[in-house]
Amino acid sequence: MNRRTLLAQAVLALAASTIAEPGPAAVPDGLSDHAWRSGRSFGCAVRGNVLLSQPSLRAAIAREADTIVPETELKWKQNEPAGGRETYAGAEAIASAGEFRGLALRGHTAVWHRSIPDWALRQFEAGRGADLVLRRVRGVVAHFRDRIVEWDVVNEAIEPEDGLAHGMRNSPIGKAGGRGLIADCFAAAHDADPKARLYYNEYGVEYASPDEDARRVAVLELLSFLKARGAPVHGLGIQGHLTVGNRFREKVFRSFLADVASLGLEIRITELDVSDRRLDADIQTRDNAVADAARQFVGVALDEPAVAGIVTWGLADPSSWLDTDRPRPDGLVQRTLPLDGQLRRKPLWQALADGFDHAPRRA
Ligand code: XIL
Repeated sequence: MNRRTLLAQAVLALAASTIAEPGPAAVPDGLSDHAWRSGRSFGCAVRGNVLLSQPSLRAAIAREADTIVPETELKWKQNEPAGGRETYAGAEAIASAGEFRGLALRGHTAVWHRSIPDWALRQFEAGRGADLVLRRVRGVVAHFRDRIVEWDVVNEAIEPEDGLAHGMRNSPIGKAGGRGLIADCFAAAHDADPKARLYYNEYGVEYASPDEDARRVAVLELLSFLKARGAPVHGLGIQGHLTVGNRFREKVFRSFLADVASLGLEIRITELDVSDRRLDADIQTRDNAVADAARQFVGVALDEPAVAGIVTWGLADPSSWLDTDRPRPDGLVQRTLPLDGQLRRKPLWQALADGFDHAPRRA
């Protein structure tokens, strides 16, 4: 990241000194350039198979982003499909493609209830879950020590609808050790890589609805608990999977961000995308509505100095998880990411660039 910043500064200085001689635009002007000018960062999730087979996508990522996040290649199921045999080949391929281009690497995610391998689930049932989870955290974080700058150590541990104490999710991880185990995961990650920034990551905290109200309360409670325990937690990741048509209330989100910041935590939007599944097919209508939803959300997020940057969950449309996990009723590809299928910038790209440009500069 530093190398790129220096490079960008050198290019800017050169451009300024040769202003009388117009030539091809040498100044990089991707989303990360807009982000840096506000003292922030911009990144995107990538899929190994797509990244490695599409040189044009790699070039677009290098132009737009300063950070990449493997979309699935750092999940437990992928890393340890059979007990005791760790494999990081998929993540390594992404890491070296990124390192080659000076991109920082963000780790997602050491612990997630939806990514526990089957063999491990059987161990959980036998009461060996807590030890296994901690071994998993140590293994993956140590493997990428000094290379992954920031980790989602634990993902989606809260689900107030499950009715458990403190809004914890009724998952194998919850049952194996609850909040105490989550605190221990952060300690284990810190031991394995003392320089890494350690995040708790969560979804469904943006909108004004009774279940999101409850999730915000539970997230704040968990973060306060972790801080009180002295767990090495540095930030909250807010996934930011938006949907056009959901009720966003600026005041509610703004005060949530301020509450998190008041705990001394950094915040990052970690998985931004905008589902258009409730809209008619017309592309222009969808693109504008998607951009408007993001503009509103990002405007509030980047007003908060604790928000260190944005990661989108993919960069270009045809490879969004929403098309498989939450498809449109008519089956059309969703217009959910900053670039389209030809890697052209969409109104959503502009909304993000404007969001960074208008944000108060972060110290
Ligand atoms: C998703 C990936 O994008 C999909 O490819 C995979 O099939 C399932 O996981 N919240 C998260 C991410 O924290 O890990 C999820 O990623 C999307 C929702």
